[in-house]
Amino acid sequence: MRRTSIIAIDGPAASGKSSTAQMVAEKLDYLHVDSGSLYRAATAAILRAQPNPDEWTERSVLDAARGVELRAARTSFYPVLDNRAIEEEIRGADVTRNVSRVAQMPRVREWVNAKVRDAAASSNVVVDGRDMGTVVFPEADLKIFLVADSRERAARRLRQRGTPTSEKLLDDETLRIIERDARDARQTVPAADAAIIDTTSLTQREQVERIVNLWIEQSG
Ligand code: C5P
Repeated sequence: MRRTSIIAIDGPAASGKSSTAQMVAEKLDYLHVDSGSLYRAATAAILRAQPNPDEWTERSVLDAARGVELRAARTSFYPVLDNRAIEEEIRGADVTRNVSRVAQMPRVREWVNAKVRDAAASSNVVVDGRDMGTVVFPEADLKIFLVADSRERAARRLRQRGTPTSEKLLDDETLRIIERDARDARQTVPAADAAIIDTTSLTQREQVERIVNLWIEQSG
């Protein structure tokens, strides 16, 4: 019998899942698990072993991903590759461009799901991704699905990067987000019992408050 609590936060690219999940976890004293970081770590691992994505197979990705582990820090789990933190590498453009290809591989999905379930077996967690509330934790205690307008998501991404921006950059980023949405569409579906929150005009703080309030209402 499971004794830990699970809050699952899903949604499309740049919907604010990970930063929101991290803040909810800190408020509740839970640990944050970002399932996307594992897909990204597997992609970073195979990019090191084979720079040409056309050569990748499910087998070669799984082999490369053998060096990936999920470690617990004070407020979150984070992936390491060959015992080294790889946060910067997994957020790079190369990984972002190729991660959806890796995420289409069924056995890679099983590999990620097993790691995320392991993490949740020993701690109260806020997990975020695409299919946490549907496939990985259909029994989650609270399910949230975040949505936001694609242009607003692109604007957030650019703000996050902190580099100067322009209409052209915003157009390009919006297009990249729409393309990634299309590639990830199959696994990005809200659970029937998820609360859907449109964050287009919400601040980060408001998103976090809504989720924490839902959790308090439900557990109270
Ligand atoms: O959330 P993030 O954008 O970091 O996820 C990176 C990629 O990992 C997504 O574009 C998607 O292809 C994949 N992913 C997934 N299922 C999840 C989490 C992420 O397919 N639960």
